[in-house]
Amino acid sequence: MAKSTTSYSCSACGNVTTKWSGRCEACGEWNTIVEDGGLSVGPKKGSIGGMKGNGIKLTDLASQEAPLPRTHSGIDELDRVLGGGLVPASAILVGGDPGIGKSTLLLQAAARFSEAGLKVLYISGEEASAQVRMRARRLGLGSANVQLGADTNLRNILTTMDTEKPDLVIIDSIQTMWADTVESAPGSVSQVRSAAHELTTFAKRKGASVILVGHVTKEGQIAGPRVVEHMVDTVLYFEGERGHQFRILRAVKNRFGASDEIGVFEMSGHGLEEVKNPSALFLTDRENTAPGAAVFAGIEGTRPLLVEFQALVAPSPLSQPRRTVVGWDSGRLSMILAVLEARAGIAFSGLDVYLNVAGGMRVNEPAADLAVAAALLSARENKPLAENCVVFGELSLSGALRAVPQTENRLKEAQKLGFTRGIGPVGGKQAQVCGIDMAQMSDIASFVVETFGTT
Ligand code: TYD
Ligand code: MG
Repeated sequence: MAKSTTSYSCSACGNVTTKWSGRCEACGEWNTIVEDGGLSVGPKKGSIGGMKGNGIKLTDLASQEAPLPRTHSGIDELDRVLGGGLVPASAILVGGDPGIGKSTLLLQAAARFSEAGLKVLYISGEEASAQVRMRARRLGLGSANVQLGADTNLRNILTTMDTEKPDLVIIDSIQTMWADTVESAPGSVSQVRSAAHELTTFAKRKGASVILVGHVTKEGQIAGPRVVEHMVDTVLYFEGERGHQFRILRAVKNRFGASDEIGVFEMSGHGLEEVKNPSALFLTDRENTAPGAAVFAGIEGTRPLLVEFQALVAPSPLSQPRRTVVGWDSGRLSMILAVLEARAGIAFSGLDVYLNVAGGMRVNEPAADLAVAAALLSARENKPLAENCVVFGELSLSGALRAVPQTENRLKEAQKLGFTRGIGPVGGKQAQVCGIDMAQMSDIASFVVETFGTT
């Protein structure tokens, strides 16, 4: 006999529990647990064991598949993040803070995909069709062959998809959609989850692709995009600092391509423009010889990207000095500070430390360790690094510098942008051919001595 109880789920990560608590056990977020509608637990009568289903068609691993036929939007930064274009019948989630530019990006993508021959529906649950049309005119897409709809009722949307037979449906946003079969309010975890499930399964069955927009939410009542991440093939996050015009579209999951790929855009008066050479953009306004700055030769997905780390170190009036990081992991900063103290004898106690990645970029690569250490040391010693020098390398807790992948690509990009020197770990394929004068270090202590002449 099925027992019906109330269940609760976390609006940040979607974890389901049977009792309410102030903090989610799964993701550690506070005040995100909300009540779901009624949910049955336990086996239902006449469950699967007693039913006869259809046999599944099985194939072996060696059977040949044709390569995925992909549609290119012509927006290279988007196509690359998708893994080389849109795969038919795929489900994509585009998450991001409200106002970051998701609707703008997807309206532009809708227009380009329709030019490429797809039948595109753009369903907005947030704006009236007139508003979307106005934006399209502003973006210079007024004559694009995109079908607009404004509705939030899932039943209506599915019926429309059934009759219109589109190739691509854009749902803006998943949090505004609601199914009349689910009791809870629009935006709740169970609504968002079931709307996403219905839309993606229906689209897949009909051979259409679907792009869901999901706002990243700060408070618990509205479910965030993480709740539907597992239901889709591709998860993209649109990031950027509000004060900056750069926007980064980052693939965090992709069944059809590399998952750490990024696309870089610039928000302009007439929509998002592609940034073909992001390194140049992130290094503009760079003061070549400022103390505390280090240029990191990084790799994002399949492409090299140079970014500048900036550090500021100042005497602290606080008993617990500040450690403030923007664009990098704060735990990793603590680790670098500890390694510098324990392995190179450079202490930061009594000093406030600020670390920033220029241009609003977020760096996740461990290969940035040495660039961070270089920026911190340069700030602490008030000595600039050598001119036109890039830095990369991963630090281990022992203070050893580890080789990092794709050295040659990093150096080629550096050379292209006018850099002449590099500091990195020993080993790896060092490409002297690039015309970069490489200083190779085996550990952090020798880096400190060679670069700053102190221990
Ligand atoms: P929007 O796409 O509505 O964000 P989201 O869907 O993620 O909530 O973008 C909103 C912001 O973008 C808004 O602050 C205005 C700005 N914007 C431009 O700067 N240029 C443009 O051409 C457009 C359409 C918007
Ligand atoms: Mg929007």
